[in-house]
Amino acid sequence: MEINPQTLDQREVYKLLIGCVVPRPIAWVSTSDEAGNYNLAPYSFFNAAGSNPPTLTIAINYSAAKSGRKDTLHNILTLGEFVINIVSEETAAAMNETSADVPADVDEFALAGLTPAPSRAVRPPRVAESPVSFECTLHTSVPVGEGPGSSTIVIGIVRHIYLRDDLLNERGYVQIDRLRPIGRLAGSAYCRISDIFDMPNRRS
Ligand SMILES: Cc1cc2nc3c(=O)[nH]c(=O)nc-3n(C[C@H](O)[C@H](O)[C@H](O)COP(=O)(O)O)c2cc1C
Repeated sequence: MEINPQTLDQREVYKLLIGCVVPRPIAWVSTSDEAGNYNLAPYSFFNAAGSNPPTLTIAINYSAAKSGRKDTLHNILTLGEFVINIVSEETAAAMNETSADVPADVDEFALAGLTPAPSRAVRPPRVAESPVSFECTLHTSVPVGEGPGSSTIVIGIVRHIYLRDDLLNERGYVQIDRLRPIGRLAGSAYCRISDIFDMPNRRS
């Protein structure tokens, strides 16, 4: 099958993308608004981009219900600061709670029974229940397209990292069986990392 995405409607293209780009890590993004209200929401269009400086990216899609701009994007563009928390199996259900489309002044920490912990380098709090939190400042935001299906790619520079004490092994690698992150698939499907195989790097 050969597909020209221009012949599909936006929803069909979205379904292909989220079905094929899998599994996606989940950035659980905490932000604050001008008044200091907390906001928390999951974003699976997420990845690491560089390590000097350390950079992370998320993509925030257009939301008709929010006049285009989701609360997370509004807060990041206003304050220039955000925290990306990692979602573990233990916090999967709470993460899902925080994806509810609620008004901007609703604190999703309280909604999902989570604990905001003070960050060290930025104003928005981290999620105390998360094993890892990356405190970021906004580097750039890139709007791509307009209307439904469009998105804003946000690039953040990591200013501080919270890492739960038991996660690192003696060689400085994160132990995946302690982190227990979950991944997003299409629709309501998620995955655990429970089938790992080794393949030594090729060095030519
Ligand atoms: C696991 C998961 C991943 C999600 N990933 C994204 C994403 O990458 N981009 C996006 O715009 N929305 C994503 N969403 C939807 C947002 O979390 C949802 O629109 C949320 O209400 C936004 O909240 P906010 O307005 O407080 O930012 C995701 C939802 C879930 C449950």
